[in-house]
Amino acid sequence: MSKILVTGGAGFIGSNFCNMMAEKGHRITAFDDLSLGKTESLSKKARFVKGNVNKKEDLKKAGSDFDYIVHLAASSSAPMFAKDMYYAYQNNVAGHIAVMLWAREIGAKKMLFASTSSIYGNNPTPLTEDQEVIPPNHYSVTKMAQEGASRVYSKAEGLEIIAFRFMSIYGLNEEHKTTFANLVSQFIWGMAKDEEPILYGDGTQERDFTNVKDVVQGIELAMNSPKKYGFTVFNIGTNKCINLIELVKLINKVMGKKTRPKFIPNPVKEGYVKSQLADITKISKELGYKPRVELEDGIREIVENLAKRDSKSCHRL
Ligand SMILES: NC(=O)c1ccc[n+]([C@@H]2O[C@H](COP(=O)([O-])OP(=O)(O)OC[C@H]3O[C@@H](n4cnc5c(N)ncnc54)[C@H](O)[C@@H]3O)[C@@H](O)[C@H]2O)c1
Repeated sequence: MSKILVTGGAGFIGSNFCNMMAEKGHRITAFDDLSLGKTESLSKKARFVKGNVNKKEDLKKAGSDFDYIVHLAASSSAPMFAKDMYYAYQNNVAGHIAVMLWAREIGAKKMLFASTSSIYGNNPTPLTEDQEVIPPNHYSVTKMAQEGASRVYSKAEGLEIIAFRFMSIYGLNEEHKTTFANLVSQFIWGMAKDEEPILYGDGTQERDFTNVKDVVQGIELAMNSPKKYGFTVFNIGTNKCINLIELVKLINKVMGKKTRPKFIPNPVKEGYVKSQLADITKISKELGYKPRVELEDGIREIVENLAKRDSKSCHRL
């Protein structure tokens, strides 16, 4: 049993991590300012503390007796930077430093955090961790800064820090992200109401859609690994990708529908990713990671969950 502090614990990936780890008997503290996440996503087995990673008094309130810190709190997607760039930089860069200092101060064995595959921009696929990267937008610049600060701090202070470059993550508990949610969820929610999914350009852009359960698997393996890296980076993906036209077909198949997508000119002018596909050799060889959830099964889980929720709300009417 480990004691784990999870920042951003009420968010999409955070709540899935907290719930699955709490189920395994770990002592989980989910820490979140609820700027986006919802406590309703969390299992009763996880302790919740409301707080902001940028406020030390809030981190203190969460306690100091932790083996690991899993840092997922962030302004979690590129469009959030358009709304308030200053705040988002502060949240991601200063917030990361605050958590890193706290991890060192409390003597945590390891800090593990979410970087992003957006860092790769339009690099040739499959994307490998040793590629040279030029982050294409403010969001990925902040993640690059997190990685850089972690590399230097780990070397100077001996704190073990692991960064994950997640691909396109989808799964349950994503409703609070609304228009920031993964396309898999957004398409399912819309298609359930017979709305056409909107595809930018010709719809041939490809993504390595990865179920959140496989993200939890990757973080857990890195957390429990006895190997010492100082600082290192792992991709988390599936090493499979499909384009958005194929994605809509697959959702139609699972939902038993024939919804046609609507194509519009791509409104994203800068840094739009054409092709995303993770090379997962490093995490597979080092930690024994193996993606387990097939996209079709992950889609089915979201569809069934939506149907369950809708039938519950019908009963309440
Ligand atoms: N979902 C993806 O596809 C994906 C891909 C790559 C990287 N990531 C990264 O993974 C992490 C989790 O993303 P997510 O998809 O679960 O998004 P999310 O927005 O659901 O989760 C982030 C959580 O952090 C909380 N938060 C934000 N600022 C905070 C602060 N200052 N103090 C405390 N809590 C704060 C929010 O309320 C939210 O619950 C983020 O760092 C994100 O950048 C996500």
